[in-house]
Amino acid sequence: MDHFLYRNGALYAEDVPVAEIAAQVGTPFYLYSTATLLRHYHLFNEALSGMDHLVCYAMKAAGNMAILKTLADVGAGMDVVSQGEYLRARAAGVPGERIVFSGVGKTAEEMRVALQGGILQFNIESEPEMETLNAVALELGVVAPITVRVNPDVDAKTHAKISTGKSENKFGIPISRASAVYAHAARLPGLEVVGIDMHIGSQLTDLAPFEQAYTKLAALTETLRAEGHDIRRLDLGGGLGIPYERSNEAPPLPVEYGEMVKRVLGHLGCEIQIEPGRLIAGNAGIMVSKVIYLKSGEGRDFLIVDGAMNDLIRPAMYDAYHEIVPVIEPAPGTPQQPYDVVGPVCESGDTFARQRNLPVLKADDLIAFRSAGAYGAVMASEYNARPLIPEVLVKGDQFAVIRRRPTFDEMMNRDTIPEWL
Ligand code: LLP
Repeated sequence: MDHFLYRNGALYAEDVPVAEIAAQVGTPFYLYSTATLLRHYHLFNEALSGMDHLVCYAMKAAGNMAILKTLADVGAGMDVVSQGEYLRARAAGVPGERIVFSGVGKTAEEMRVALQGGILQFNIESEPEMETLNAVALELGVVAPITVRVNPDVDAKTHAKISTGKSENKFGIPISRASAVYAHAARLPGLEVVGIDMHIGSQLTDLAPFEQAYTKLAALTETLRAEGHDIRRLDLGGGLGIPYERSNEAPPLPVEYGEMVKRVLGHLGCEIQIEPGRLIAGNAGIMVSKVIYLKSGEGRDFLIVDGAMNDLIRPAMYDAYHEIVPVIEPAPGTPQQPYDVVGPVCESGDTFARQRNLPVLKADDLIAFRSAGAYGAVMASEYNARPLIPEVLVKGDQFAVIRRRPTFDEMMNRDTIPEWL
């Protein structure tokens, strides 16, 4: 459920008409709902109630400072994957003891920044990374808390580009090597083993792969404990999917996920951490765009809109489906017709939808791409010298631009022409 609903014939974001924001901000732009973000965060918290737990929002999904502060203020932890994300989380008010640091390629510098600034744990992905962290910690005279990310070799049955828990993926250490790697970690004086980490993929629409992976995690916890390691935390990663296509079967709910976690892992008495990104931010954001032209092609009509693949890359990159709705609610009985919805960027991949049935539209009509809050703005680029589009946050009847559109001068002035040119 989200807070983008039709009211009196117009699409609202909470209590604000989307068209009113478009008139003030100009299109295209991203629009987020505070109530939806918070609702999804609280759903996870409730789903894990009764267990010692921390919800660490995977801020790679949507990392605007205002979004981070919204979640930080209600006690969310964060999962960060770079120095930039770490610094943003801290600046948004997340204390170090609520931040976990993931990623296969953390540099010594990134480790230094996090160790000095405060960190709950590093999720280590390889033995060379472990050695580097040990050296950095010793150099700073501190002990770094770690989990090791274990690759359980299960098929998450999601898009290949966002599946991470198969042995051919670059993530984690093979589960078969876990005992050896943990023994290695225990010998390094700059590290303290605190738990185990897993993340098997994103946009999972079935609990079975999670359950398979967590069953292996439970067994591994017992094995490593028997080998003398103090396994007290389990980081389960993120990955629970969202309903992009409302007509399709809905993915499992956080509460169902939570019940499974309790059933499979509850007896271990570990603190549970989860790293949801998409489920918190995905349906909390839309991209609002305007029709520039209607163009009749051979056997198809193109709806050329002012948003493009550089603004929302998911359809081009993963063949992702985003529901498209008009901002003015079509009157009952409005005829529908199939459109190819495309952006102005100069490649055919700049296509949001092919032969999508939509109510008849015309130039200047506003449309919204739903479920665009996660992996939308954060994956945008300035391809074709198109400015990064603004982000707007709604809360009740108020809204604010939380990242403004840069000017063309600002964009040009980031480049330097050498004096010898
Ligand atoms: N934890 C780790 C270690 C991750 O790598 C990810 C996502 C998450 C948590 C959050 O997963 P979520 O709950 O959002 O599924 N750009 C792609 C998705 C990439 C996901 C990368 N890792 C997309 O637009 O579908």
